[in-house]
Amino acid sequence: MLFPDYRPRRMRASEPLRRMIRENRLCADDLVYPLFAVPGKGVKNPIESLAGQYHLSVDNLVKEAKAARDLGIPAVILFGLPEKKDSLGTSAYAKDGIVQKAVAAIKEKVDSLVVITDVCLCQYTNSGHCGMVEKGVVDNDSTLDLLARTAISHAKAGADMVAPSDMMDGRVTHIRESLDEEGFSHLPIMSYAAKYCSSFYGPFRAAADSSPKFGDRKTYQMDPANAREALREATMDAEEGADILMVKPAMPYLDVICRLAQETDLPIAAYQVSGEYAMIQAAAQKGWLDLEKAMMESLISIKRAGAEIILTYFAPEAAKLC
Ligand code: PBG
Repeated sequence: MLFPDYRPRRMRASEPLRRMIRENRLCADDLVYPLFAVPGKGVKNPIESLAGQYHLSVDNLVKEAKAARDLGIPAVILFGLPEKKDSLGTSAYAKDGIVQKAVAAIKEKVDSLVVITDVCLCQYTNSGHCGMVEKGVVDNDSTLDLLARTAISHAKAGADMVAPSDMMDGRVTHIRESLDEEGFSHLPIMSYAAKYCSSFYGPFRAAADSSPKFGDRKTYQMDPANAREALREATMDAEEGADILMVKPAMPYLDVICRLAQETDLPIAAYQVSGEYAMIQAAAQKGWLDLEKAMMESLISIKRAGAEIILTYFAPEAAKLC
């Protein structure tokens, strides 16, 4: 149908009309809130690179998690800044590690909240890499056991879901089998399936002190130029037993989300990463963007592309508006 028979503006004439034909809606249920746990007590230090986000000691983290739950947000994802780093990333799987303590405290004090843990080594290794460094290279297979140990220790602390973000090959199989052996066959895995080697992680790395001390992550994270490879990565993770597939970052990779949504029947998550958040915050502070509108538009674009789960630092602010 062409003009003048068809006039698309007819259906845009008023807000209720627009609401009637709206194809996608954002709601608090879609959101996952990332939180940064640090050692200590009473700590709530603003993260410079992420306006409005904080380094939180466990006591304050529990409060933040509760507030998110009260806003209707179903899940948080935890990142930890350990007291010490070493070559084996031992603080990642220590029984009294920072994430383990944070999980236990949230599970004890906050009900009706899914606690997801990020499973990776880069915050815990002194190389700042996501895996074991052998002869100057990030070694795949020797990393798998340490990732599995990390996932198990999170599970033992009470985590409801683990999210491996390391991009080692075969880690979903390895983590799944190890969890099953330890009696955690009920625990879902959200795999960072298509995780790109992105400059948009910059503010996170400043916040989590997890920048690689040499080289970059190009030998394990994906090349931003590739889309079909993401489908291969995601298919692999699905076959290895992932329960949710994640694309990361979100906005520069909406095409990947969209393609994956057509290919998989698993739930799709997208991570609106630190750089995406920081860009909007910075532009808003300058008065160049309307913070709320840009935030909501960026989030609905991720939904429209086909993700049903959005990990975002905007979670509480967005939940208040939807
Ligand atoms: C750890 C990890 C990173 C992020 C989530 N998990 C950083 C990285 O891969 O360098 C990035 C999150 C963000 O930028 O908000 N591997």
